[in-house]
Amino acid sequence: MTEYVIRGGHPLSGEVVVSGAKNAAVAIIPAALLVDGVCRIENVPEISDVTLFFSILDDLGAKVRLLNRHAVEIDCRSIRSTRPSYELARRIRASYYLLGALLGRFGEATVAMPGGCDFGVRPIDLHVKGFTAMGAEVIEGGDIHAVAKNGRLHGANIYMDQVSVGATMNVMMAAVLADGMTIIDNAAKEPHIVDLANFLNAMGADVKGAGTDTIKIRGVSRLTGGSYSIIPDQIEAGTYMAAVAATGGQLLIRNVIPKHMECISCKLLEMGVEVMEEDDTLLVRRAAPLQRANVKTLPYPGFPTDMQPQITVVLSLAQGTSMVTEGVWDNRFKYVGELKRLGAQITVDGKVAVIEGVDSLVGAPIQACDLRAGAALVIAGLAASGTTRLGNVQYIERGYENIVGKLRAVGADIEIVELEEPPVSESHIS
Ligand code: UD1
Repeated sequence: MTEYVIRGGHPLSGEVVVSGAKNAAVAIIPAALLVDGVCRIENVPEISDVTLFFSILDDLGAKVRLLNRHAVEIDCRSIRSTRPSYELARRIRASYYLLGALLGRFGEATVAMPGGCDFGVRPIDLHVKGFTAMGAEVIEGGDIHAVAKNGRLHGANIYMDQVSVGATMNVMMAAVLADGMTIIDNAAKEPHIVDLANFLNAMGADVKGAGTDTIKIRGVSRLTGGSYSIIPDQIEAGTYMAAVAATGGQLLIRNVIPKHMECISCKLLEMGVEVMEEDDTLLVRRAAPLQRANVKTLPYPGFPTDMQPQITVVLSLAQGTSMVTEGVWDNRFKYVGELKRLGAQITVDGKVAVIEGVDSLVGAPIQACDLRAGAALVIAGLAASGTTRLGNVQYIERGYENIVGKLRAVGADIEIVELEEPPVSESHIS
């Protein structure tokens, strides 16, 4: 067991380099299963969710060769099984991508029901609806078993009743090798949707319209391989922006796509934080007191739900009353109880949090309950006076590459401490 010990109250200053996008990597790596050849993937983040996917692919018979810490070569020409390890797959939400990729390439797949962060109900009915429209039979239990009734999927017109990142990407994967044209309407538009489409096209697929409401995928007979570099992580960059907003100081954030950051930059500007973009960098400075703001999370290009906990921490230190409305998930304010231990004044009613800004937070022992909430609590600890001991940090390491090293390099007093005994209030979520 490890925890982070944070001695807060110091402004951040210096440069942070953003890693490859987690939510693109956890789609692109399983998408390599569609490729009957070798793919080389660069700018891969060094995080535990990625390592888990490498193990899953390796176990299925793929040859996974790390070229360096951030580049990998994956050869899926001799896959032995369409049933990924139950033990490994159930540990991550994104294991649902194994369904689309294996079903698309081999016409069948059996995958454990996905785990991942617990934000309330996380159904996969839209994924199933898409596969079914393409000619698959899907049986759900502890495992999800999907089989193409005619051995191979066929193109279909699929309307997503709700904008879903996962369902859009999964149907895209299933469709690239299907017979004929698939059209996804009301598709999600997140940067990682476009990144997956670009990856698939680089491997030989024919995907058009990613980043708009309508994606058209013309099935091809084979993906042959190629090279691809993953985009920078919008949420990691946003997390460091929120960190400097909360602590004060100035950070130069490198390796970002400023366009992807606009939904976050605009809110920080509204709160009195300076954000200056140049090429692939953002200079973020907080020199004045933070001003209140209202935030509602929405699918891209709206404010990302995966930045909701981090912005709530910033707003807990802003002057006046702010309101944060969660527009994507049913239950994403579970971390608020921990934030209140540091002195934040927040009332949650269903999907709305009302935040009375306080002058300062004070360190205390707290526990992460999921990935982004964990990162938000790191920010809270950095802004708080005194010492914060943060447990359950394995959630954070699922999605943030070397967060402790990156923060230490910009002046944060944070260290990883190995514990002999598990902390008393251990969370169950994995
Ligand atoms: C992905 C991200 C997650 C992020 C979320 C929204 C990954 C690995 N995870 O999750 O970090 O918070 O996008 O940006 O990329 N829904 C249904 N039926 C479905 C699928 C989804 O009703 O079949 C609903 C969900 O309950 C939720 C909404 O649609 O209310 C959005 O979910 P979705 O975009 O699918 O999230 P994920 O892909 O699971």
